[in-house]
Amino acid sequence: MRLNQLTLVAALAAAFPLFATAADAPAAPAQKPWLDRSLSADKRAELAVKAMTREEKLRWVFGYFGTSFAPKGTTPPKGAIPFSAGFVPGNPRLGLPDLLETDAGLGVATQATPTPRERTALPSGLATASTWDTQMAYAGGAMIGSEARLSGFNVMLAGGVNLMRDPRNGRNFEYAGEDPLLAGTMVGHAVKGIESNHVISTVKHYALNDQETGRNEHDVRIDKAAARMSDLLAMQLALEQSDAGSVMCSYNRVFGTYACENDYLLNEVLKKDWGFKGYVMSDWGATHSTVQAANNGLDRQSGQEFDKSPYFGGALDEAVKNGYVSEARLDDMATRIVRAMFAKGVVDNPVAQDGKIDFAKDGAVSRATAEEGIVLLKNDNKVLPLSKDVKTIAVIGGHADVGVLSGGGSSQVYPVGGNAVPGLEPKVWPGPVVYYPSSPLRHIQALAPNAKVVYDDGTDPARAARVAAQADVALVFATQWIGEANDATSLALPDNQDTLIDNVAGANPRTVVVLETGGPVAMPWVAKIPAVLEAWYPGTSGGEAIARVLFGAVNPSGHLPATFPVSEQQLPRPTLDGDPKQPEQRFTVDYKEGAAIGYKWFDQKGLTPLFPFGHGLSYTTFSYSGLASQVKDGRLHVRFKVTNTGNVAGKDVPQVYVSPLAAKWEAPKRLAGWDKVALQPGESKEVDVVVEPRILGLFDEKSKTWRIAKGKYKLVLAEDAAGKNATSVTVDLPASTLDVRGRQRK
Ligand code: BGC
Repeated sequence: MRLNQLTLVAALAAAFPLFATAADAPAAPAQKPWLDRSLSADKRAELAVKAMTREEKLRWVFGYFGTSFAPKGTTPPKGAIPFSAGFVPGNPRLGLPDLLETDAGLGVATQATPTPRERTALPSGLATASTWDTQMAYAGGAMIGSEARLSGFNVMLAGGVNLMRDPRNGRNFEYAGEDPLLAGTMVGHAVKGIESNHVISTVKHYALNDQETGRNEHDVRIDKAAARMSDLLAMQLALEQSDAGSVMCSYNRVFGTYACENDYLLNEVLKKDWGFKGYVMSDWGATHSTVQAANNGLDRQSGQEFDKSPYFGGALDEAVKNGYVSEARLDDMATRIVRAMFAKGVVDNPVAQDGKIDFAKDGAVSRATAEEGIVLLKNDNKVLPLSKDVKTIAVIGGHADVGVLSGGGSSQVYPVGGNAVPGLEPKVWPGPVVYYPSSPLRHIQALAPNAKVVYDDGTDPARAARVAAQADVALVFATQWIGEANDATSLALPDNQDTLIDNVAGANPRTVVVLETGGPVAMPWVAKIPAVLEAWYPGTSGGEAIARVLFGAVNPSGHLPATFPVSEQQLPRPTLDGDPKQPEQRFTVDYKEGAAIGYKWFDQKGLTPLFPFGHGLSYTTFSYSGLASQVKDGRLHVRFKVTNTGNVAGKDVPQVYVSPLAAKWEAPKRLAGWDKVALQPGESKEVDVVVEPRILGLFDEKSKTWRIAKGKYKLVLAEDAAGKNATSVTVDLPASTLDVRGRQRK
């Protein structure tokens, strides 16, 4: 037998271990003790970094874009997955794999290309938050994390938890709403689900990147304690619940300094106060220096092509050689990265591309999330659910004949089956506009097989009204496309859709509006419309989910994770700061409202929103009884009974709000806890909500403690922040002090 050269080398290497290069050698704990799974992640990282040369350490802190970068004409290094977000070469000598990074929180995304990866998309982050169901958030995370792994990725750039300070923020659909407890908890569970696949996830965008206008330059000002009780608390809770391997620092400046070289945010708050042991990666294009960034807490420059300079390349080497950045700090950077790889199982469970994805199974997870996340905003005269015996149904607008909308930018997941409505503007970043081929119309027809279902595209309001007039019920699908780097210019639905809805409502009193929007929108027509559903961006199986809610196959149980204002005039900033046409311009965004975001702002100012935070109707009704509270083992428990008083099974989201009667907070009340309870008609369940103690206190920046003031607190149990179905009880709390991580001080 003739051996070719390669097989000869392999054969010799097998026979004589000395022939084997270190890179080819099987894991030999004696030579590579960091591969010993019985050691802790800390120990393994320490041992691995000790074995690295400086050049090898430097390689971990320098990330590439996983796609060609047109402005610089660069192509990704060999090994990057085509059209992916990021790549960091591994260290074969030490048996450490490449880091293969994909966006993002709604599924496995693809950078712009005519031949994208087709994957399962979850509904938007706001939809998941609207479920108020932590297990649902976990299941969604676990699903997209498994698709990441089966696609060959071991890092998912998910975990968006910026608070909704403004309903016009173009990335709200990636996040989880306005409340720190709800957003932090839901995103924490999603990230935990992702990481259950031995895939590192991020929590992002750290911090206070709450608008896209001028995102690379704007400078956020906020009282530090207020930040700790709002945006930072959401991040802190998400990190505690998920133990995420990484945090992505954001584009903007905070207190005058870029977030990715911000000593206060990175070293003081994140690493020291919260004890974060993972690594900080920059957003793509968010690194601005070498020495300042490294010393102030950035551990890895990402997508270095996006930055003005390869700051963590040769320049960092020089800085270490010349003592501007200590050798110990470089060790720390590499250790944090490698530790996350060990801790999350990335080293012990190598990924491979082209795994077999069960799209039917994953689509069902997405559908379940959409079904629980759709919010029934209004339902006068029980227009919904529709009877399957309805004779004619007019389906109008929103491309509802073929699909459902998704949001644009780096998080864009491309669906199996392709874009249902190709060619819409914008075709380029943050486009393309993508509709998932889950047709509401088709599923409506399937649920009402005897009905005549007609479609009108809604481009001519007068024609649509004529179609609606002929039908028993008219369903108007209204859309708002939004994307990364682009805030909405107003809360109004675009493209004359308000006129369309007005016209249809005038022609048919049984008009239902189904919204597919990135966030809250204004509804000048709402008084004329008996039923409104907020379906958000409902994901891969969204058309089916919408149809099932419309016909009552699913009883809606979504509740708003954000306030819907009547208009911009009710917002802290009626006009967004900055000029979208001058993205390079530096300006200040002053978060004067501090921690009073969303419903807290509305309460403080005595404003009545269009729909309050926490709002969501059902096809059944619920009642509460036996509200009582008790402090047990240092935790405040709120107990009560929920009963389904209607005729159909349903799920309720009882919400507990707390108001101090003596102490003064940023606003009259805060969400203190909730539960999601499934009940058959007539069934009751006991609920025990345990209150997160930080919610009861005020943060003191000087002593870095949470102080709970002695006195009376009112606990309100209600179906929304406006107090629907409210019942209350008062509790006396002693003074207490919690440390910066919310632990009772001894
Ligand atoms: C986004 C990040 C994303 C990164 C990589 C940036 O534009 O802000 O959220 O993870 O790109 O695609």
